[in-house]
This record gives sequence, structure tokens and C-alpha cells, in this order.
Amino acid sequence: MVEKSVPRESTLRSYSPDVTLRFFQKKRLVIFYGSQTGTAEEYAIRIAKEAKSKFGLASLVCDPEEYDFENLDQLPEGCAAIFVVATYGEGEPTDNAVQIVQNLTDETFEFSSGSHRLDGLKYVVFGLGNKTYEHYNAIARIVDRELEKAGATRIGERGEGDDDKSMEEDYLEWKDGMWDAFAKALGVEEGQGSDTADFVVSELDSHPEEKVYLGSSSPFVP
Ligand SMILES: Cc1cc2nc3c(=O)[nH]c(=O)nc-3n(C[C@H](O)[C@H](O)[C@H](O)COP(=O)(O)O)c2cc1C
Repeated sequence: MVEKSVPRESTLRSYSPDVTLRFFQKKRLVIFYGSQTGTAEEYAIRIAKEAKSKFGLASLVCDPEEYDFENLDQLPEGCAAIFVVATYGEGEPTDNAVQIVQNLTDETFEFSSGSHRLDGLKYVVFGLGNKTYEHYNAIARIVDRELEKAGATRIGERGEGDDDKSMEEDYLEWKDGMWDAFAKALGVEEGQGSDTADFVVSELDSHPEEKVYLGSSSPFVP
């Protein structure tokens, strides 16, 4: 049995859409981070670890630049997307979130169903910003607004952290209410199996050649 851990997918671009979808079907959460200097990424990983320890849920922590965003409308029932996004400049996204923000705000952008709709998608937003800037947490607000406009349903309240004074306190104050709402929205209960491993490794005597994926392996969050 492989030690339980949260896989961080950095090679989704090289997966076929089919492989990507099958990957998601085994995960309950996909967590996108929009991060320039690593803080949002750290919070994304924390959220993934909390989902695992509280509910036994596996997450895919994902650099949005490396995700085929048009498949966002294909997240299966019972899954949720979490956006942990920082704001920079004059209320701009981080480099790795430019494309997803553009896709979300461009109403001509089509998801895999051929429309700009995300009905059925459940999502969470936590923004990282700094109140000394004029456009405080602008990207988290834009992402939230656009997801809602596309028909997706927010779980709980949007969280906003202020790097000037209280990022950690803001996160801690926000997360309990979010996890309560999350449990209701996904129909999960706290204490459900933090001991459940994400993977079981078993040895096969033989296997069909075409079932072996020889692409790059995904790194693991320690
Ligand atoms: C050059 C610079 C510009 C920033 N611009 C904004 C801004 O316009 N609005 C905001 O709310 N926060 C702004 N911030 C604060 C960052 O969003 C915050 O520090 C965040 O935690 C960075 O996350 P990251 O480490 O994941 O990149 C800015 C920070 C820097 C260094």
C-alpha cells in the first residue's frame, strides 16, 4: 500500500482529455492555485490536506496553466472545484491564472459542452490579497462573479485573506464555515476515514499493453 498523500498534478497538459477525466473521477476535489510567489499554492495544498484529514477526500492540486480548462464543466457529480487565487498589479491575476481568468470572463469561451455554462459545478473561492492595494482581492471577486454568472454554485462564503495584516487569521476564520457548508453541499461527514489511502498498489501477473500509461508521472505533495 502506498503511503497516503495528495497528488499534485503538474503534467495534465500531456494527458489526453480522456485520461484527465478518468483521473478526476477518482478525485472529489480539484484545487486550482493562482500564485506568483507560492503563498496561494501553499494554501491550496493545506486545503487539500484538510479535505483529506476531515473527510477522507482526495484532491488534485492543480496549476491552472497546465489544465485543460474547457473540461471544467465535466467534473462529475459529487466533486467540487476550489480556486485559491492571488491578485497582483492593478487587480490582475498571477501569470499562471491569466488564461483561466480570461476564459471565465470571455463569454464566447466554450466549455466542452459547447457553451459558456457551468451549471452543476460546485465551487469554493479563497483569495489572497493585500488591503494596501486599491484592487483588493480583485481576482478572487472576479472568479467568483464569473463562475456564478456561468451557473455554478458557490459553497459557503468567498474567503479573502489580507497579506498586509492577517492572512493566516483570515484563513482560519473563514475555513470552518466553509467546511461546514462544504460537508452539506457534498453530503460528506467529518471524521470519514482520514486513514483511507488514495491508492492501492497491487501486482498483476499480466496486463494488456494498451492499458499502460508511459507519460510523465505526477509529483506528490510530501
Ligand atoms: C507587486 C505586488 C502587487 C500586488 N497587487 C495586489 C493587488 O492589486 N491587490 C491585492 O489585493 N493584493 C495585491 N498584492 C498582494 C498579493 O496578492 C499577496 O501578497 C499574495 O499573498 C501573494 O500570493 P502568492 O505568493 O501566491 O503570489 C500584490 C503583491 C505584490 C508583491
